[in-house]
Amino acid sequence: MSKKLWGGRFKKKIDKDFEEFSKSIQYDFKLARVDVFHSIIHTRALSGSGLLNKKETKTIINALNEIIKEIDSGSFKPDLSSEDIHTDIHNRLEKKIGRLSAKVHTLRSRNDQIVFNEKFYCLNEALNIKDLLGDVLNSFFVLMKKYDKQPFIGYTHTQRAQVILFNDYLCAFGHMLVRDSNRIKKFYDSVIPYIGAGALAGTSLHRKEYFKAIDDFLSFVKSKPGKIKSVESSIDSVSDRDFLIEFLSIISIIQMHLSRLAEDIILYSTQEFDYLDLPEEFCTGSSLMPHKKNPDFPELVRGYTGRIYGNQVSLMTTMKGLPMTYNRDMQLDKEPLFSSVEIIQDELKIMAKFIKGIKLNKKVIAEALLDERLYATELTEFLVFKGIAFKDAHDIVGKLIRYAEDNKTAIKQMPDKALKKFCAKLNSSDVAKVMHAEHAITSKKSIKKRVPKPDA
Ligand code: ARG
Repeated sequence: MSKKLWGGRFKKKIDKDFEEFSKSIQYDFKLARVDVFHSIIHTRALSGSGLLNKKETKTIINALNEIIKEIDSGSFKPDLSSEDIHTDIHNRLEKKIGRLSAKVHTLRSRNDQIVFNEKFYCLNEALNIKDLLGDVLNSFFVLMKKYDKQPFIGYTHTQRAQVILFNDYLCAFGHMLVRDSNRIKKFYDSVIPYIGAGALAGTSLHRKEYFKAIDDFLSFVKSKPGKIKSVESSIDSVSDRDFLIEFLSIISIIQMHLSRLAEDIILYSTQEFDYLDLPEEFCTGSSLMPHKKNPDFPELVRGYTGRIYGNQVSLMTTMKGLPMTYNRDMQLDKEPLFSSVEIIQDELKIMAKFIKGIKLNKKVIAEALLDERLYATELTEFLVFKGIAFKDAHDIVGKLIRYAEDNKTAIKQMPDKALKKFCAKLNSSDVAKVMHAEHAITSKKSIKKRVPKPDA
């Protein structure tokens, strides 16, 4: 077992099973790089306050930078016998600089480190998710271009409703993704990693030393990681996991959108609908039935909704009723966080490729578009523009549809005489024009046909 960051007051050794049970290194090793950032800022604050001399500061900072290089090159392997990543980085530092490492944790607590690390992690991953949402959006644009002007069948209650453009259908998902992207952006702007909370009560280092240390640190990092500030309420800072719950909520909403997209894809690619042909590279076969081409990717996306919603509920339940301030319960925030972030990124990455590969079965769609019920609303509107009250027009067309259904005929096949029994304003040439995909689409004037640009 590796060395711990505590132990002086204990006479007995920790129980082995409990020690295993309490460790977080097996998942919080992901925070290694950010944990070193915290150490660099903290070391500079200690130095500015006179608690480390110039030589000591240089030795520590150089060693910390070496650790970052090891992390970046992949040669850093966490010692899985460490209690957590903070302990592990500390032990690594001790290996490099010996006793001097004991000064780095001066006036510092893991309670402050962990929340700083998690906020940094969220900032980075929020940007990644925003980029991936952009990729999926671009794939929708590719499909839109390919099927520009293609009419499609619009549903309500999973029943045929009205004719729409396939592009307008895709555009709806575009709007969802843009809202997701803007939610992520707002979240990114709102997260502030603080430093200097100590265990809960703050530290005796002056705020301005922390600010100086932060500025110093920021001047060395290439990509700007958002804002870092000297802590305001130290008690709130170490207690706060709102940002994680917010992030998981945003991810849940993205997931909800993806699950609806997945469900439509699954439905529309069934033999019953047969509107879509799915890219084979993302489907699988059956070990028994030779003919099967199963939509496993969208099925897994739909299925992961359980995991992602579960992660959010798990964290909210962990946080419920926790006494102020830090409690060890909060260690359990990381697995749901990492799980949701990883799943959503995988899904978006694959979705961007998958969408581009979808093909429309134009023949099947053309046949479905012959269904006259899809134009009942347009025919009603036609009568309204001829001066008939909407409710009366609704009734006339309802009866006409019912008559055609009962007599197994098509309204478009009915002669003027038969049509006029329902309404004097009807005639077969108007009916033919109105009950047509082109009319259904061009008559819609209320839609602005574009996907807004996501906030930069
Ligand atoms: N591994 C801990 C966590 O993730 C770090 C903070 C531990 N703090 C403490 N006082 N034991 O929450």
